[in-house]
Amino acid sequence: MSKKPIILGIESSCDETAAAIVTENDQNQPVALSNIVSSQTNVHKEFGGVVPELAARSHLEKIDLITKKAIEDSGIKFGDIDAVASTAGPGLVVCLSVGLSFGKAFANSLHKPFIAINHLEGHALSPKLNSNLDYPYLLLLISGGHSQYLVVEGLNKYKRIGTTIDDALGEAFDKTAKLIGIEFPGGPQIEILAEKGNKERFDLPKPIFNRGGCNLSFAGLKTAILKISKEIKNEQDKFDIAASFQNTIEQIMYKKTNIAFDEYEKINNTKDNIFVIAGGVAANKNLREMFKTICNERGFKSIFPPIELCGDNAAMIGLVGLEKYKLGLLDELNFPAKPRWQLDEVASFLKGAGVKI
Ligand code: KG4
Ligand code: ZN
Repeated sequence: MSKKPIILGIESSCDETAAAIVTENDQNQPVALSNIVSSQTNVHKEFGGVVPELAARSHLEKIDLITKKAIEDSGIKFGDIDAVASTAGPGLVVCLSVGLSFGKAFANSLHKPFIAINHLEGHALSPKLNSNLDYPYLLLLISGGHSQYLVVEGLNKYKRIGTTIDDALGEAFDKTAKLIGIEFPGGPQIEILAEKGNKERFDLPKPIFNRGGCNLSFAGLKTAILKISKEIKNEQDKFDIAASFQNTIEQIMYKKTNIAFDEYEKINNTKDNIFVIAGGVAANKNLREMFKTICNERGFKSIFPPIELCGDNAAMIGLVGLEKYKLGLLDELNFPAKPRWQLDEVASFLKGAGVKI
């Protein structure tokens, strides 16, 4: 039996420094032999958001240690690595540069190929780790920086059918949390507080609910919550805001996902429709239940990556590296950081006031 490729994956696009060793098992399924993630939450907490210069400095301080640990934990030796795959975009340019330069130097010192990875492609393919997931599928990517519906037809074959025209969904969760006094990153706390609140108490806006196809908009919610948050008198008020926000998001995502399913069915006329929900917000349990319900109603199969692969990690970067390596899709050492690298590079740019959808 020929040796399975072994890929070192590196991720530093935002505020997680991560390294992983990825290979294939005997069933040819991609598997992570190690997956080390170091989060910088404590570095950015007092600033209420990610500070790029501090994030980059923190990546620089840790990337060699994290990589060493990923190699040690996997049980392989340096010389076993066949290629190094680093995130090249999208993300904060100062942060991307750390993992990108480190990955290139590492590959060069081993005399092994270097592969530049799109971070979004990592999220998009993440459910393939430890499972047999065939193309095509409909992907909803909901993270701190992105919210998109994409038809995934294969490696590097993406068609975007919907996107946010302003804030990303994770950003909306984080901003709502901040407005009701929860420390950054508050997104995961919202669903915990929401359990104690009255979801009907506040009637929040649902921007572009009845137009714009499956495009999304969340900025109006933040403005509405800013107004309400000025009247907060006690803890119950906070719980009620969290519950009303979570409920509104569920209604928006239910409606938009139904539209995305319609669009997908027009493009892909197959019976075995698959819906993959990935990115940090896919960890939200209430949203997961809602997505499962809608999939039952519409005859789609729902797939969520394991919780530890929903947030940023390097196993998903190593996984895309593995797929590219097997196809001989390697990159030169002068590959640049691409802060705005999109998955569907022909999709039009839909951001900002005045956008027509
Ligand atoms: O994918 P990710 O780790 O990083 C990006 O690429 O952005 O996503 C992070 C985002 C943050 O906005 C965080 O608040 C949100 O995912 N998030 C959640 C939950 N867990 C993480 N939002 C809502 N509910 C959660 N349980
Ligand atoms: Zn991400």
